[in-house]
Amino acid sequence: MTKYIFSQLVLNWYHKNGRKDLPWQINKTLYTVWISEIMLQQTTVKSAIPYFKKFILNFPNIKSLNNSKLDDVLYLWSGLGYYNRAKNIYKSAQIIKKKYKGIFPDQFSNIIQLPGIGRSTAGAILSLSLNFFYPILDGNVKRILVRYYGISGLLKDKKIEKKLWNIIESITPIHNTGKFNQGMMDIGASICISIKPKCTICPLKKECIAQIEKKWEKYPLKNIKKTLPQKISWFIIIKHENNFWLKKNTEQEIWKELFCFPKFKNKEEALIWLKEKKININTCENMISFFHKFSHFILHINPILIRLPYISEFFKENHKKIWYNLKNPQHIGLPRPVQKILENFKKNIF
Ligand code: ADE
Ligand code: SF4
Repeated sequence: MTKYIFSQLVLNWYHKNGRKDLPWQINKTLYTVWISEIMLQQTTVKSAIPYFKKFILNFPNIKSLNNSKLDDVLYLWSGLGYYNRAKNIYKSAQIIKKKYKGIFPDQFSNIIQLPGIGRSTAGAILSLSLNFFYPILDGNVKRILVRYYGISGLLKDKKIEKKLWNIIESITPIHNTGKFNQGMMDIGASICISIKPKCTICPLKKECIAQIEKKWEKYPLKNIKKTLPQKISWFIIIKHENNFWLKKNTEQEIWKELFCFPKFKNKEEALIWLKEKKININTCENMISFFHKFSHFILHINPILIRLPYISEFFKENHKKIWYNLKNPQHIGLPRPVQKILENFKKNIF
């Protein structure tokens, strides 16, 4: 099949079926497309929508990011996960202020130097916002290509990656690059999905090797799934009226820069800490344990609740330790499990 036909099939499909009314597709600018592409790196369209809307409302431009604290950005990112993305946005905004007078650059070589932006994301930003001719190769596009061309191998293999870049460079149309790229991502997200692709409604089905062979599970080859390691964390929830004692995580911990309940690897460490704070262990209440799945491990969380009748001298606030007020919450970043626990308290309180 020629280059012309592949891109035409995708473009025709996009004109008929592609989504054109997502929040980041309306009044597009380099800035809004940048934010949406970073959000969509590890988040589905459905989950990203409310976060994107909130983000743009609070930070409509680079200047507003420059005038804010990292905590404000993490606050709006809370629950989305992969918080490095938010930190990279914040860092990028500072770089853009210094190097580009606060205007998001429109040169590929400048964009790709910003933290959190690789070749595919830089290409997506320029093609989707300005229709510049840059190919993209995210997970969705890779999956379509290996199936269509019958490339068996592991996606993380550098040789395969190089081959896929060469292919996508040769089939991306010079005109309508933005629509083609969006069409590929939409087909990858809605039709050529990893399990049970919907080949019968796919515009590429006629010449797709995986479809012809009926062996889409061969493309791409999957890594043998390792079972995720399991870790345990004990959360100590110090509650005084509607206030909860939270501590900012250091660079060495998970959820860096986010606020969390004091957490410990085992019960013994937790008890020692309680003793230091002169808390009577008999007042501890065990709460229901639950787990949180990270991409690389599973964290089992055992929360212990302590209701303090008064605030002792051991719980004084500073910029890294706060009494989080459930009725009038501070703007800080919270990990999803901490949010979940606080939401449960909120339901019972109000
Ligand atoms: N994933 C990354 N960017 C995307 C986009 N613009 N549309 C749909 N999925 C995406
Ligand atoms: Fe994917 Fe099936 Fe379309 Fe081939 S025909 S690109 S396997 S959805």
